[in-house]
Amino acid sequence: MTFHRAMDKLSLLLFIFLRCLNPNLGYKAGAPTFACKTMTPGHGVPTQTSASPYTIQTGAEEVDDAGRILVTLSSPPLQFFTGFLVQARTPESDEAIGSFVQIPRNTQLLNCGTQANSSVTQSTNARKTNIEMEWESPPDYEGSVTFV
Ligand SMILES: *[C@@H]1O[C@H](CO)[C@@H](O)[C@H](O)[C@H]1NC(C)=O
Repeated sequence: MTFHRAMDKLSLLLFIFLRCLNPNLGYKAGAPTFACKTMTPGHGVPTQTSASPYTIQTGAEEVDDAGRILVTLSSPPLQFFTGFLVQARTPESDEAIGSFVQIPRNTQLLNCGTQANSSVTQSTNARKTNIEMEWESPPDYEGSVTFV
């Protein structure tokens, strides 16, 4: 049996931890696990409600034969971010699915729910403009996911 693990188009419910103007407000150690579902920072900065200027893109429409796909988070030209939280979710769910298997420096893995390494967050307040991560689908999952 072959599983079709199609990726959803990039409709983004963006994770908003944008401390671009005041990096000191950020969690230097990354988002706390209580932010897993709400995806709000919880440190007094209001969640952004307007369309986010930040983008998440995937390297392909579908995962490769190993069930993996490249996910890129980027800021607009001349802008940056310091904090963020990215995870994959199935439609209508607020649970993270799958796991990240490659992440760059200044970031770390976070266990959301029961799923190890299911989210990526910052590990330092360094200014970031482009982050590439590799995500792996659960072996038995068939359907779409959205990266948030
Ligand atoms: C989670 O990530 C850590 C660090 O990369 C790794 O050692 C561990 O095997 C991973 N666990 C799972 C379940 O992927």
